Amino acid sequence: MTALLDAAERMDREELRALQLERLRATLHHAYAHVDHYRAAFDRAGLHPDDCRSLADLARFPFTTKADLRDNYPFGMFAVPEEQVRRIHASSGTTGRPTVVGYTQGDLDTWADVVARSIRAAGGRPGQKVHVAYGYGLFTGGLGAHYGAERLGCTVIPASGGMTARQVQLIQDFRPEIIMVTPSYMLTLLDEFERQGVDPRSTSLKVGIFGAEPWTQEMRREIEERFAIDAVDIYGLSEVMGPGVAQECVETKDGLHIWEDHFYPEVVDPFTGEVLPEGSEGELVFTSLTKEAMPVIRYRTRDLTRLLPGTARVFRRMEKVTGRSDDLVILRGVNLFPTQIEEIVLRTPAVSPHFQLRLTREGRLDVLTVRAEARAEATPEQRAAAAASVAAAVKDGIGVSVGVEILAPETLERSVGKFRRIVDERDRPGS
Ligand code: DLL
Repeated sequence: MTALLDAAERMDREELRALQLERLRATLHHAYAHVDHYRAAFDRAGLHPDDCRSLADLARFPFTTKADLRDNYPFGMFAVPEEQVRRIHASSGTTGRPTVVGYTQGDLDTWADVVARSIRAAGGRPGQKVHVAYGYGLFTGGLGAHYGAERLGCTVIPASGGMTARQVQLIQDFRPEIIMVTPSYMLTLLDEFERQGVDPRSTSLKVGIFGAEPWTQEMRREIEERFAIDAVDIYGLSEVMGPGVAQECVETKDGLHIWEDHFYPEVVDPFTGEVLPEGSEGELVFTSLTKEAMPVIRYRTRDLTRLLPGTARVFRRMEKVTGRSDDLVILRGVNLFPTQIEEIVLRTPAVSPHFQLRLTREGRLDVLTVRAEARAEATPEQRAAAAASVAAAVKDGIGVSVGVEILAPETLERSVGKFRRIVDERDRPGS
């Protein structure tokens, strides 16, 4: 196994920390010298890049937020002349201007390297075929996975998202060993296999590399069982690079190793911004260590997780993401994430993994309704019992009352990429 690792993966922690400090200092200088936003932000904080003498000194530097990227739309955060930018991606977000990111040729090479490393950690090997069903386009998922798979020496099937019936056909005919797709779209594919009368356990697939949205251990068990594959987690975000910032190793499946030679993580208190000790849950913050076109300093991801020591690799791990602070529902004072509902829904035998959360308002009270589909084989009695059991599990486990509707199979909308788990109808008249 060690023979397969690249040089950075074989470093010890001391070497890694020395490399990180050298790269961090270079990044701070690069950002300060070439991006007006960073120069102004550092000056306001009374800091110069030379003030960073240890990795801990990074905590003195100001955060960067999505709002900073939006305010500098489209290219104000770029640190190189526009003609050196080889690629642009953007994420739409729900409102306003998209967030724009840029890559030099050097950045595209780094990105391909970290995704190749990710696919290898997931169990992929040169010569295998990779079916990429992440969307191609401005979204980083498709192209990010694509170039990483090629870099590893795999054959890429660039399926993109959608046209689900054809995806199933392609998987049967081309016989890929690996699939890269959002976990929610994998469930859509699962339905399609069954609709076509093909046993999903009979395909050539061995490994699924799932990310771009939160998913739970219960979802892992469901997907692994139904497809007879290993399901591992890949994390990333466009502002920092795209997919391939962190990856779960197939041999341990114990959280995601962060490719720390390129992306420096911190976990901070989401309210005070204070850096938390390793192991505490908080908001993940990233500083890029090698990016040229768009270095990011202390970027606030809004993703909640914990940092843990490395196991299968020298790099630190992040625990599976609980959710984004944006997806936190506060219901009568109780905090609730869609992943907590996912755990409960998947533990309820008569209920399928297809569910959505609907938020409405009754008078001045917010009401949450879990809408989940019954499994096809569930009897009417089992469905009725499931509604009561989900409601009781939410009440006992999370501490709040919610409504539960168990729907007929195939009634909820299906994912073709990132799934919208929460449907917020609180602003609708009459709701
Ligand atoms: O979703 C990049 C990506 C593509 C990652 C394909 C993995 C696979 P964005 O569209 O910028 O980039 O969205 C980034 O998605 O801040 C998280 O909230 C969420 N996210 C990404 N991966 C995971 C994951 C891509 N494995 C945002 N678990 C991030 C939980 C994830 N959430």
